Amino acid sequence: MTIDPRSLRNVLGCFATGVAVLTTRTPSGQHVAVTINSFSSVSLDPALILFSLAKNANVLSHFQASKSFAVNILSHRQESLSNMFARPSSADWKHFRFVEGENGCALFADSLAQLECDVHTEIDGGDHRIFLGQVVRLHLHSVIDPLLFYRGRYGAYSHSPWEMNVQDGTLTDFSIGGWG
Ligand SMILES: Cc1cc2nc3c(=O)[nH]c(=O)nc-3n(C[C@H](O)[C@H](O)[C@H](O)COP(=O)(O)O)c2cc1C
Repeated sequence: MTIDPRSLRNVLGCFATGVAVLTTRTPSGQHVAVTINSFSSVSLDPALILFSLAKNANVLSHFQASKSFAVNILSHRQESLSNMFARPSSADWKHFRFVEGENGCALFADSLAQLECDVHTEIDGGDHRIFLGQVVRLHLHSVIDPLLFYRGRYGAYSHSPWEMNVQDGTLTDFSIGGWG
């Protein structure tokens, strides 16, 4: 069966995510960044994460050439940063405060948290390349709300408790025994 890409995008967009900005350096030391929401945790021991980059993204070659990168997990204060690095070639870095991590990659101010990583593996993923990263350093900042992405739009995290009438207890059981 052929899956229509537009419909697939609409369905996958129902899976709400956070937003992250990946950073790396070129061999000449130039900073590179791109906005992603394909970030995911993979393994705690060893500490592995993943993301995928479109094969036609201009930034791809920089991540393929580099041995290390950083993941900035964005807060709700960073929507403009997300927009800026959704168009990496026209991004103006002077609008955003950052420091360099120990691996030299940019760590942006106001991020919720950052991971400094080594490239572990690169895998083919259709029209994307999938990168597994080995986490080598962590940065956790003050607790502020995340930037969310849902159905092609940014959204805000709500602290209100679920108003769900769970009859069979399945969700409750999972939230006790599952992740987090
Ligand atoms: C919220 C959001 C999430 C995105 N997630 C990804 C992603 O996971 N992978 C990807 O290749 N591009 C993603 N993009 C698109 C890239 O940010 C970028 O626009 C694209 O790679 C073009 O970059 P280029 O100028 O290097 O070609 C996302 C954009 C936004 C706004």
